[in-house]
Amino acid sequence: MTPSPAQRHARLVREIEAHNYRYYVLDDPGVTDAEFDALLRELRALEAAHPELVTPRSPTQRVAGEPRAGAVKVKHAERMFSLDNAYSEDELKEFVRRVNDGLPTGATPVFCVEPKLDGASVEVIYDDGHLVQASTRGDGETGEDITANVRTIRGVPLTIAHKTRVTLRGEVLIFKRDHARLNEERAKEGLEPFANPRNAAAGAVRMLDAREVRKRQLRALFYQLVEGPQLHKSHSESLRWMAAEGIPTHRLETSATSIEELVAAIHAIDRARESYPYETDGAVVKVDEYRQEEILGFTSKFPKWAIAYKFAAERARTIVRDVIVQVGRTGALTPVAVLDPVELSQTTVSRASLHNGDMIAQLDVRIGDAVFIQKAGEIIPQVIGVDLASRTSDAPSRFEMPSVCPVCGTKVASRLRDESDPEGGSEATVRCPNRACPAQIKAQIFYFARRFAMDVDHLGISLVDQLVDKGVVRDVADLYDLTEDQVAALDRMGEKSAKNVVASIAASTARTLDRVLCGLGIPQIGQVAAKQLAEAAGTLNAMLAWTPDEMRVHVDEIRGFGPKMVESVVAFFADEASHALMKKLLDRGVGVHAQPREARVTEGPLVGKSFCVTGVLSRKRDDIHNELKAAGARVDDGVKKDTTYLVAGDKTGKTKLDQAKKTGTRVITEAQMEALLRGETLPDETLPDETLPDENPGQA
Ligand code: IVH
Repeated sequence: MTPSPAQRHARLVREIEAHNYRYYVLDDPGVTDAEFDALLRELRALEAAHPELVTPRSPTQRVAGEPRAGAVKVKHAERMFSLDNAYSEDELKEFVRRVNDGLPTGATPVFCVEPKLDGASVEVIYDDGHLVQASTRGDGETGEDITANVRTIRGVPLTIAHKTRVTLRGEVLIFKRDHARLNEERAKEGLEPFANPRNAAAGAVRMLDAREVRKRQLRALFYQLVEGPQLHKSHSESLRWMAAEGIPTHRLETSATSIEELVAAIHAIDRARESYPYETDGAVVKVDEYRQEEILGFTSKFPKWAIAYKFAAERARTIVRDVIVQVGRTGALTPVAVLDPVELSQTTVSRASLHNGDMIAQLDVRIGDAVFIQKAGEIIPQVIGVDLASRTSDAPSRFEMPSVCPVCGTKVASRLRDESDPEGGSEATVRCPNRACPAQIKAQIFYFARRFAMDVDHLGISLVDQLVDKGVVRDVADLYDLTEDQVAALDRMGEKSAKNVVASIAASTARTLDRVLCGLGIPQIGQVAAKQLAEAAGTLNAMLAWTPDEMRVHVDEIRGFGPKMVESVVAFFADEASHALMKKLLDRGVGVHAQPREARVTEGPLVGKSFCVTGVLSRKRDDIHNELKAAGARVDDGVKKDTTYLVAGDKTGKTKLDQAKKTGTRVITEAQMEALLRGETLPDETLPDETLPDENPGQA
């Protein structure tokens, strides 16, 4: 049944609000800008057709987002408006027409065209020649004080020659090359990469430890003079003045007086943007003369004198040559499209995930189809649609998920994924039930060897492939029986590398029990739970000796272990094959090192509080856990009924946020957690605005 306009409106509002929250408050967009813009346009169109549906709550009626609860707030002297968007020449012409209509007859506006910088907006105030305050945009009215962080940005001058107060606005960015380097470093530390420079910049700008901010190599480029334009007649004059004062600007502005010139200037930016060191997602067109800007004024949301021309999201069209199915650690089958290689945002793409059978059905992708692909957060390409117009009548029928495992040929089992599954969703998953499936064994070995688990170096793909395919290794325990000669006999393996491989496997026997338990991949048991389990049990021997009932009693006593986790552990240990594998590991000296029981910290600022830490943070999660514990806090693996705080880093999953909502757990930022660690208290979220100082001059 098609929803009524009112139902559709309510749904759109909810969806847009949710995306806004993730984008502006959590710095973790759930959709691409283009997808988000499409929702907003649909909402606008719906409201245009049904004006009675417009409410003050509608996202069309405000700029965006709420300021993050708990941070030091800064009220902007002048509201930070956002820009209306144009996506076509027609919409651009519309804008020019509105400008002309708004100006007195005979006035001929000159436009300034410049790149739209894709970073995090910032306002900086200089007074008496000193940088006195920097703030984020927040909801446009009120932002967060980030003076200390902005002061770490090398390009931003701490003093300028000009003495009277000026307010500048600009964008904090990470250059593309610095982003690549930052991600390389994060990979080395076992951290998730940032999806794009904007996320990395937006996250960094609000971190509390300015030393950490420095590591992100932030830059700032300014594009607007707010207070003090009385100094100049026009925007372009202000830009030149800023550059002369040593304030970083993009220095890429051009002027245009006709539609033709505007279009040419925009296209010039589009053509050149790949060569810019930062990401650009559009061009901004502004009426240059301040007097004319003043006449034109603002709507409730946007200046009438400027518009952002958004470039089409980077997409590519290519042909699906095949759909292959990959088998993961738990046997889950994932379909992957094999594509004709195509250039997309500076990389060659030849594979794209199709997620699962439902997704294939929904998109109706068939082998031989021309498809459009897009990068999800600029990293993993995904198929976003089929170019149906070019499908020939002899297109093969729809791709069906196989009924047998493509690797071992075992008949697959399907199940509906559980809502509470940490991987989320409730899509149908298809699994290979064969424990001896080589694909599963390989994936399990990689998981076991990962940094947060057994941390085994030198286990490359080709090596593991050969070991499993030749039947030398049938489970993770077999790794410990490998000899240098066996490894050296494999393809592309010299004596030296064989030595390294065997040595790093041997070194991993020193890992404590919690890492072994984690590496085994017991469902529901992550790093933190593995540690608690190891602490509770003491030794693997003791755990293996427990009957399922004893196990249930012991595990049930662990704080924060819900029934699902308890049952998962009990089932894992009761399973004959897992039991045998753990015995085999013990025989090889793996798991004999007990987890040293941590002395319970009974003093500290966080006694009685509990934290669940999730998402991508600025430092290792292990280190954060240790600090929290040292301060007396309890650390939970997931959000429990009594978890006090959920620390949400970049890319925090929706499941965790939903859970926090359910349990009434307060969601805080990494910066807020750092404040708690220092013994500070967080401002009450319900504190009325009036109680906060309007201005916070920061340190000069
Ligand atoms: S001028 C009244 N110029 O785009 C608004 N904004 O949605 C004046 N942005 O929040 C903004 N590059 O953060 C302007 N060259 C540029 C820009 C730019 C990026 C951002 C800015 C603003 C958002 C508009």
